[in-house]
This record gives sequence, C-alpha cells and structure tokens, in this order.
Amino acid sequence: MKKLVILISGRGSNMEAIVRACASEGWPARVAAVIANRPDAAGLAFAASHGIATAVVDHRQFPDRDSFDAALAEQIDAIAPDLVVLAGFMRVLTERFVDHYAGRMLNVHPSLLPSFPGLKTHQQALDAGVRFHGASVHFVTSKLDHGPIVVQSAVPVEAGDTAQTLAARVLATEHIIYPRAVRWFVEGRLALDGSRVTLTPSEPQWLFAGHTAGEGA
Ligand code: GAR
Repeated sequence: MKKLVILISGRGSNMEAIVRACASEGWPARVAAVIANRPDAAGLAFAASHGIATAVVDHRQFPDRDSFDAALAEQIDAIAPDLVVLAGFMRVLTERFVDHYAGRMLNVHPSLLPSFPGLKTHQQALDAGVRFHGASVHFVTSKLDHGPIVVQSAVPVEAGDTAQTLAARVLATEHIIYPRAVRWFVEGRLALDGSRVTLTPSEPQWLFAGHTAGEGA
C-alpha cells in the first residue's frame, strides 16, 4: 500500500478528486496526510472529515524559504510517503526541497506547459489568443512549472470566454487527469526517461475535452 501526502494552499478541489478516486477505484494507496501552508485552507476541512490526518506549516511563521521548506520536509518525511502531490500548492519551492523529492513529486498546472507558467494562466491564454488551453500534470523540477509531463488535457477556448469560464472548463479536466496520473504512479506504471515520461502498459497520456457548450459531448 503506497502512501501519499497531498499539499494544498486553498480550496483543494484537486485533492478532493484524488481522495475520492483513491477510495472509489480501490488504488493500492492511501492518502496519509494533507498539509497546507495556510491555516485557512478550505480543503483541510474536507480531508479531516474523511479521516485524513491534516497539518499546517504556515509559511508566514518562517523568515525565509529555506527554513519553511525544511520544516515542511520534516513534516512530510515523518510520514515517509511514496509520492508528494502538489494540488494547488502556491509556494515556490527551493531547489534543495525539489531535489529531495526528485522523481516522487507531482504537480498540476493550469496550462498546456511549456506555455504559460506562473500565475493568471487563463488570462495569459486569452491574451495570447490561443484556440486551445488546458492543464498539465508533471514531475516537479527546480524550474518553476516545468518538468517531465505525465498527462495533459486540452479544452477549446470559446468566443466570449473570460478567465473564469476558461478556468472552470480547465479545472473540470484537472479533476480527471490528476487522479489518473497519481493512480499510474502508485501502480508503478510511470518511468522517467530524461524529459519524457512513459506509461506501461501504454494508454493516452492526454485528454481532449473537445465539445463546445450546446453541442453535446
Ligand atoms: C488549480 O487550478 C491548479 O491547477 C492551480 O491552482 C488551482 C488549485 O485549485 N495550480 C497552480 O496554478 C500551480 N502553479 P484547487 O485548490 O481547487 O485544487
């Protein structure tokens, strides 16, 4: 039984999707803890109500990134997880922290990487005029919002989209691809080959949510 630790900063809807999929699909894994960097992270309540241990490492209590990351790593390592899952964890992590979890830390980012790293990705996509946008699940490396891509989802950008409507369309796909990627990891099906991630046995490492509103699926 593999152990997962999920890190959140806020709402935690991706964490919730992973917790639900882990239980309903009977993964050979359990979510051992959910850790937030903010005491008011809404997702903590969901985790606690599902019997998952929760903890807060409040970044505002630390003078710098190094000391925060060291305290966070101490909490995580006490659980000895097989995989660390960043689910809307909005902190830039130090190289030392990232290296410590190399090959065993995943993140979801709301864009088709390598396009639009950083914040306000949906507005960036609208401003760039792209016709497709999406989300990426990737192994975490020390370069922010980069790293070997496990799975991506693509959605169309519709006329009249706002950052909010686009975010909602992308988020719905995050809730599908992130649990899928974590399941592949716990099933031991992912292998890293440089910047490529292979899945064995293979299946599509992408999701195309191609229907437009009003046209049906
Ligand atoms: C998600 O859209 C996730 O992709 C994004 O934050 C949101 C968290 O929502 N993450 C990033 O922007 C990381 N660079 P959630 O708390 O409901 O899962």
